[in-house]
Amino acid sequence: MKTVKDFELNNKKVIIRCDFNVPLKNGKILDDSRIISSLETIKYCLAQNAKIILLSHLGRIKEPKDLVKNDMKIVAKHLEKLLNKKIIFVNQTRGKELDDAVKKLKSQDVLLIQNTRYEDLDGQKESSNDLELGKYWASLGDIFINDAFGTIHREHASNVGISSHLPHGIGLLVEKELNALSYLNSCDKPFIIILGGAKVSDKIGVIKNLIKKADYILIGGGMAFTFLHSEGFSVGASLIDKDNIDFCSNILKKYEEKIILPVDVLTAHEYKDTGKLKTKMISEIETDEIGLDIGPNTVEIFQNYLKNAKTVLWNGPLGVYEFEHFKNGTNSILKYIVANNIKTVLGGGDIVAAAAKAKVKDKIYHASTGGGATLEFLEGKKLPGLEAIK
Ligand code: 3PG
Repeated sequence: MKTVKDFELNNKKVIIRCDFNVPLKNGKILDDSRIISSLETIKYCLAQNAKIILLSHLGRIKEPKDLVKNDMKIVAKHLEKLLNKKIIFVNQTRGKELDDAVKKLKSQDVLLIQNTRYEDLDGQKESSNDLELGKYWASLGDIFINDAFGTIHREHASNVGISSHLPHGIGLLVEKELNALSYLNSCDKPFIIILGGAKVSDKIGVIKNLIKKADYILIGGGMAFTFLHSEGFSVGASLIDKDNIDFCSNILKKYEEKIILPVDVLTAHEYKDTGKLKTKMISEIETDEIGLDIGPNTVEIFQNYLKNAKTVLWNGPLGVYEFEHFKNGTNSILKYIVANNIKTVLGGGDIVAAAAKAKVKDKIYHASTGGGATLEFLEGKKLPGLEAIK
């Protein structure tokens, strides 16, 4: 598979598909990690004197009111600050203004077009990979680079569509993500997987695909209660994924030694950060209690399993890390991993946000920029954005 470094870029119009799908609130970017992660490829192309055309989606566009709140201009302004360079923002996804702006591009210019999903308002053209749209976008450039790892599991006009019409390759972010995630297939052992988050359903594919490779899977977060329930524990008002109780029970029977569940939890009566919490052994959870974090004994047990680990993959927090009173489980394990220098891949989404909040993200071997994309990669699925490049 070619990377951006395999092309002669001097004076060429390089279309880079980025994933600038960042969380927004009240017109502000809450977390710019995905934009920062895209800079390496953009800076490389700038250094090679390319004319750069950037494409990305932002949010989901289902009705006209979604347009304003997902206007890509906010990313253009932020990118301008990060690159310390003028960004030519075109408030169009196709048409004369865009065509003219592209024609005028000089080497080292950077142009960002409006949110590719603006094309979804009229017949889902971007998200259903409208052939004519992909061909049109491809007509704007000479080379296509897919650097949008977070979107690599989607078959859209702005990734798969464009690829078929231009010489193409992956960007430096996608290359880095693929290297880190592929490493897990033949990583140093003991290899320990930590899984958390609310739903068992989100993690079934990962468990099935990786359980044979892993030495242990440590399970916390809301999903642990479905496993515990399947073992006959009464878990009070904690989260239960009713559709997947049988899956939990069967996998526990088959891999009893490998799957490690919490022995204690922090509970509260409401899903709130009130501070009225109790530490309970699993067998002591009362009917009106909700488990919101792993308890201190579980933290110690998990740390014991991690003691000799050479590689860790972690997806999903172990408690409600957004709440001051229920962040301890996740943070203690994060800090243990960092203190012991364990080669760890954080599989995107909430666990990366938790690591950033705990100020340890930069000390972790790899924090994936993908959410759904990372999970699908770890499930062993084929990723359309990547297949199109291969
Ligand atoms: C993500 O945030 O996971 C990617 O940007 C893909 O976004 P989507 O789930 O809206 O397709």
